[in-house]
Amino acid sequence: MDSPTLKQYAMNSGEGQHSYVKNSSYQRGVVDVAKSIIEEEIAKKLDKQVVSCMNSFCIADYGCSTGHNSFPVMKIITQAITKKISTEADSKNEFFVFFNDNVTNDFNTLFRSLSVLPEYNSYYNAVGLPGDFHNRLLPKSSLHFAYCAWSLHWLKEAPTTISNKGALLYSGNRKDQVYDAYLYQFSKDLGSFLDARAHELVNGGLMTLIIPTVPSFWDPQKEYTLTCDVNLVGSCIIDMAKKGIIDEAKVDAFNLPFYLATPEELKTIIDNNNNYSIERLEILNNPGMHTLPSVSARAAFFRAVMEKLIADQFGSEIIDELFDRYMKKLAASLILVNSDNNKTTITLIVLKRKVT
Ligand SMILES: C[S@@+](CC[C@H](N)C(=O)[O-])C[C@H]1O[C@@H](n2cnc3c(N)ncnc32)[C@H](O)[C@@H]1O
Repeated sequence: MDSPTLKQYAMNSGEGQHSYVKNSSYQRGVVDVAKSIIEEEIAKKLDKQVVSCMNSFCIADYGCSTGHNSFPVMKIITQAITKKISTEADSKNEFFVFFNDNVTNDFNTLFRSLSVLPEYNSYYNAVGLPGDFHNRLLPKSSLHFAYCAWSLHWLKEAPTTISNKGALLYSGNRKDQVYDAYLYQFSKDLGSFLDARAHELVNGGLMTLIIPTVPSFWDPQKEYTLTCDVNLVGSCIIDMAKKGIIDEAKVDAFNLPFYLATPEELKTIIDNNNNYSIERLEILNNPGMHTLPSVSARAAFFRAVMEKLIADQFGSEIIDELFDRYMKKLAASLILVNSDNNKTTITLIVLKRKVT
């Protein structure tokens, strides 16, 4: 299959030009795609002043979970900085890597897994950084490179000020009050993340964000996005409430804390924040979308992602039936069952902290 998957929405910083560039990497994962971009951006954009004025480098991964996807990326970043240093300065090769996630994250598993890797001690000093990444977590102007992947689409809380009876999320293709409330919450959350990192990053420090996104326009008669999958799970919860299996009042009181922005919305929020220049913004055409080939694999994936959230609200006893129903509905949907129709994208953004 040679249809392009990487639409490169390359932004020539300062000139505001956007261009789509074909790339034939159909099977590459997001980290593989991110690798070359991160290496290139560090080589080109990490300022000489940042490289030469510090004795040690601080890197942080925000929302690292138990680290399995984080470790390879932290290695890519430290190696790229080491390469850059060796061409621009001498002997500055001490790294501190901060692994952030919520306080309830399993940091024990993270450090146990890390301790058997060669990176541990040989590439960097690893530090756990528990806490909400919407708040400032590190000293002012202490961070040289920030990274955050697959985390910013989770909202701090779902909008509570809107009536959303009969649904658990905004509709993926309809712009209405519910959608506006979700966008408002997402803008607020991303804004506080950016503010917190602006305090922590040194002038000229870099930040890479990897965020699942949706295009501004897609055809709901033929196509779907991740939001539709989540809504399908929501519709099964509503069916179960109608049958009296779930308390309807609990459904009415519950919205899912999840929002998929468009790349244009991301750009607007970052521009409004005013602390960063956008060095690069690329839309990756969902490199992983064919890794869930069957209905049961997709149900297992969504179950893993959503189980705790749903069990906390409705009880764990409903989970088996819920995902059985989801599988049946998925199999019956001519559009959703075919992952070729998935229009979810991944947006990779490289930001530079402006000099203040
Ligand atoms: C889907 S996982 C992504 C894990 C990892 N970054 C990766 O690329 O595989 C999202 C992670 O973000 C974390 N997260 C979500 N909101 C957070 C917050 N406000 N502060 C810190 N971590 C958060 C979650 O706990 C979870 O571990």
